[in-house]
Amino acid sequence: MKVGVMASGRGSNFHAILKESHNGNLPNVEIRHLIVNKKSAKAIEVAQEYNIPFTVIESKDKTRKDFEKEVAELFKKENIEIIVLAGFMRILTDHFVNLYKHKIINIHPSLLPAFPGAHAHRDAINSGVKKSGCTVHFVDEGVDSGPIIMQASVDIEEGESEESLSSKILVREHQIFPKTLELLCSNKIEIIGQNVKINPD
Ligand code: GRF
Repeated sequence: MKVGVMASGRGSNFHAILKESHNGNLPNVEIRHLIVNKKSAKAIEVAQEYNIPFTVIESKDKTRKDFEKEVAELFKKENIEIIVLAGFMRILTDHFVNLYKHKIINIHPSLLPAFPGAHAHRDAINSGVKKSGCTVHFVDEGVDSGPIIMQASVDIEEGESEESLSSKILVREHQIFPKTLELLCSNKIEIIGQNVKINPD
């Protein structure tokens, strides 16, 4: 399936997907295009390394509607079927989400529905939970609230810092995000309301 990626920052998840794809582990995934909403996004360097076409669509002086119109036009032209949010730090409008209903996936650094939002690591540490992790989910109209596809957990040790927790979780993110994408692109994911069922071969 033809996949478009959206990113805002360093692009390590994007890199993990491209690496797995390059190693032949994502046979149903065709990464076609990267869109970044900031020209400083390091994800651009990742795209260059793997020869993936990319476009900068600056979002800062634009309404969400205008920004998304440009994204939708580009992805339509590229026949994009699935959108991966790989550290894309902007909320999408209901209109855009519905245009690609159940076709947009995101990775979040907590075990959702716990700790949605921008400070997942800090919130997990401050709450005193002993485990956190990451979640790949479909994007719906809410914030980090769509149907959960896959999760991986890590232990939170005594004295854990935001940085150390973030690095531990990132390792797990790089494992489950490419894996989920391959399942989605090989039509093995079924959505029943808020529940997701993974159908084996
Ligand atoms: C990750 O922590 C991911 O969970 C969150 O944004 C961060 C992106 O990191 N959604 P990277 O740009 O993929 O390195």
